[in-house]
Amino acid sequence: MSIDPSIAAAVALLGGANAAVDRGLSARSIPATSSNDTGPVTWDKYSLMINGQRTFLFCGEFHYYRLPSPDLWRDVLEKMKAANYNAASVYFNWDYHSAKQGVYDFQGVRDIQKLFDIAKEVGIYIVTRPGPYINAEDDSTTDQGYTDAWMEWLSAVDPYFVKNQITQGGQIILNQIENEFGLSKDGRIYMQNLEYKFRDDGLKIPFTFNDVSQTRAYYEGVGSVDIYGQDSYPLGFDCSHPTVWPKSVQTNYRNYYNSLNISEPHYIPEFQGGSFDPWGGPGYAACGELTNERFAKVYYKNNYAQGLTMQSLYMSYGGTSWGALAAPVVYTSYDYGAPISEGRLLTPKYNEIKLQATFLHTATPILTTEYVNRSVPDNTNIVDSVLQSVQNGMPTAQFHVLRQVQTSSITKQDFHVNINITEGEYTLPQKAGTYVTLNGRDSKILTAGYDMSSHRLLYSTSELFSHSNVGSREVAMVYAYPGEYGETTLAIKSKATAKAYSGQISSNTSSSAIQINYQHSGVNPIVISSHGSPDLLLYVADYTEAVKFWAPEINNNTRVFVYGPYLVRDATLTGSTLYLRGDVNGTTQIEVAAPENVRQIRWNNQRVQAKQTKYGTWTATLGGPSSMSIPDLSKQQWKFSPASPETSPNFDDSQWTVASNNALGADKYGYHVNSLWYRGEFAGGSNVTGITLETQGGTGYGYAVWINGNFSGGFSGNSSVGSDTRTFAISSNSGKNVVSVLVFTVGHDEEGGTSDSFKHYRGLGNATLVGSSETITWKIQGNLGGEDILDTIRGPLNEGGLYGERAGWHLPGYPGDANWTSVSLPHQFGTPQVAWYRTNFTLNAPSGMDVPLGVQVTDSDRSTMYRALLFINGWQFGRYANNLGPQTLFYVPEGILNYHGQNTMAVAVIPLEKAAVKSPQITLKSYGTFTTDLTVTSVNSPAWSPRPGYQ
Ligand code: GAL
Repeated sequence: MSIDPSIAAAVALLGGANAAVDRGLSARSIPATSSNDTGPVTWDKYSLMINGQRTFLFCGEFHYYRLPSPDLWRDVLEKMKAANYNAASVYFNWDYHSAKQGVYDFQGVRDIQKLFDIAKEVGIYIVTRPGPYINAEDDSTTDQGYTDAWMEWLSAVDPYFVKNQITQGGQIILNQIENEFGLSKDGRIYMQNLEYKFRDDGLKIPFTFNDVSQTRAYYEGVGSVDIYGQDSYPLGFDCSHPTVWPKSVQTNYRNYYNSLNISEPHYIPEFQGGSFDPWGGPGYAACGELTNERFAKVYYKNNYAQGLTMQSLYMSYGGTSWGALAAPVVYTSYDYGAPISEGRLLTPKYNEIKLQATFLHTATPILTTEYVNRSVPDNTNIVDSVLQSVQNGMPTAQFHVLRQVQTSSITKQDFHVNINITEGEYTLPQKAGTYVTLNGRDSKILTAGYDMSSHRLLYSTSELFSHSNVGSREVAMVYAYPGEYGETTLAIKSKATAKAYSGQISSNTSSSAIQINYQHSGVNPIVISSHGSPDLLLYVADYTEAVKFWAPEINNNTRVFVYGPYLVRDATLTGSTLYLRGDVNGTTQIEVAAPENVRQIRWNNQRVQAKQTKYGTWTATLGGPSSMSIPDLSKQQWKFSPASPETSPNFDDSQWTVASNNALGADKYGYHVNSLWYRGEFAGGSNVTGITLETQGGTGYGYAVWINGNFSGGFSGNSSVGSDTRTFAISSNSGKNVVSVLVFTVGHDEEGGTSDSFKHYRGLGNATLVGSSETITWKIQGNLGGEDILDTIRGPLNEGGLYGERAGWHLPGYPGDANWTSVSLPHQFGTPQVAWYRTNFTLNAPSGMDVPLGVQVTDSDRSTMYRALLFINGWQFGRYANNLGPQTLFYVPEGILNYHGQNTMAVAVIPLEKAAVKSPQITLKSYGTFTTDLTVTSVNSPAWSPRPGYQ
């Protein structure tokens, strides 16, 4: 052990990361990778280098644990790769893998080796972020023996990192230490101990840190990391005003990094990719709108303007906080308004990211730029950040990042830009009567003085997507919004011609340059020919069409251009056959620019009937998806059972855990998540008039109380209250009185600061009788087995303490429902009790299709207040809060849903506060229909088997 046990003991005593203490740990240098090392991951002040090659780190956050269907990890990683992300940043969630200290599980949906294997096959790097603390709107249940505990966690997870790091031929290039951890003397020791631990375990890759903002934490000194970075969420997390932006983007990233005086690339380990949304919030469509593709254009390009070459977008796929994964600040969906939606659909922001990331990986001089100035053109509403690339000490390409001074402005601005390249100074566009336009929230990167693959681009006032030599000629694409002017000028060796195969262009040629002018409209293929140079096929596209371009690499130096499909996962050239893999959502015309030796194109391994165009590309029509029939659950029979025998005074709770009157919180008894039952007994008498209960369950929680078998009300929660104290009237018997309390908890608090808020108790806090000082004897019951979970496949966060959960009624194959009452939904029943519903249905998906499905919960009546838990094949995939919302559609990934056979759905309705109980309506809904070559194997979903003490 590299940590002094006395430190471990002291930290254990104080508990928690924030209590790490300095006990004279001797100074020891950390054998870190450094920029002088010859290891595969190095860096300098400009950029990261991988195997010696400068690389823009275009990274996106993805949580495998929010998509418990490993074959879909491939889908998400392929979609990221297709947009030219080259890395995924991944939190590893301690409590997801560990039901209790000493027990770790990396199998099934927790199989992180499979994640690394898929990443390797897809060809995307991984940035590991194992915490120990991770935030991420995840629940956290760690309490005692913090140092021992985190050492144990890292000992369990590190071997996977060690064997999958790039030095071992794997995909992991960077490892983050902790998460937004505050700077303090003790903190430095804690950070250093974490680094020792990773190094001792064999991790050789560089260590990184994400500072919560510009707090200068751990960039130097004890506990510092190799590559420091600050997080940034410039629009914050309130999606309820989705069109309101701050007046201006943050413009001090460059100065801040420079002020640290470190020779490291400018890194933002978390830049806003979307936003989370609270219970009762406006919903993820609003978050997607707030952080839409215009946001991506303006804010991400501002990052590049400030010299950033390492950026990770949090989230890039959000997924689902299934089971009890969520912290109270979020509900089940963690869609996040991310570029790839919860149902794995591509959003307009995804397409914008594809345009940017493909450009950044193409135009590599952007990796070594110096800031020149903010050249103000002929419009003071526009700012032009000029970046001059320097290679081998010589100025090369120039990049002009243009945006409105007031970034929230929605006005249209026309202007000219000055460039200064080897060939001379120009004011652009040169053609009289035309101009560059920024229409409202837009930003453009103009590239000038830039050597493409075979042609020198003097400049383009359109934005460059990508270029590549494709066979004997070069292909490139430039774009702008429809109707905007564009001027592209190339250096040539002899007089050239430009021929447009559709659309209107004009061109001007001298012996050294050809200038082409156009207005963006649709897609115009233009072939530029001149003696002594290969041809250039220049696609001029408007934005609506530009987003349909894909430029997958067929080898390190060659991309092919594919226009049209919804998604192109990748391209491979074998002999004279070009294999394209991808998805379409309808009949799709495609155009492919491929090397001339290509004789055949196969789409998802099916030969396509391709025709050659006059300018040497191929066109073809891809067939769209057929339809999949989706069972109508509203027409289906459900089985119903009331399910809260705990409310009866005679219920046998002899197997329950005794809870101490002065420490009723559930964690102490090994019950950490979901629903909790308490039963309290007291002798009572006529002097007892009520009982005062203090409960706590996280914002959005609720509870219900029964006294001597009668429903006595409760609290139905709201999005800002996480605890409640109220008195319930009692007409008490003398003899035996029983209070039954059901607390529906929604996770532990996040630890944003140093308050140890993640340790706040869950369940019942305090209970006192009104009119008597008599003590109540309490018993508690959470999920069956507590930390010794019964269902190790679905894991520690899936089940709670409802009777039906303890008995396994949520599981497929529970035979007892044969004796339940048959009903149809919505279903009303009088007495306020927990109610369970079960049904089975069959899916029969055609092969070669991706049809993401969700469970739609409908209830327009707000007069009763309840939570409904949705279980699909035993997996808890939804917490519906009828009085809070906003979520009514609950995504269930293929793999959890069996698309080729029988499925079981169970719904538990938990009454809160108001008396009558009823079920909502439940149906299945599709998010879209795609053809694909993705295949998904169902995850292991064990069926019911008898549970001790239940039937
Ligand atoms: C960051 C944190 C992430 C996540 C995010 C908000 O500060 O590092 O884990 O919580 O905020 O979604």
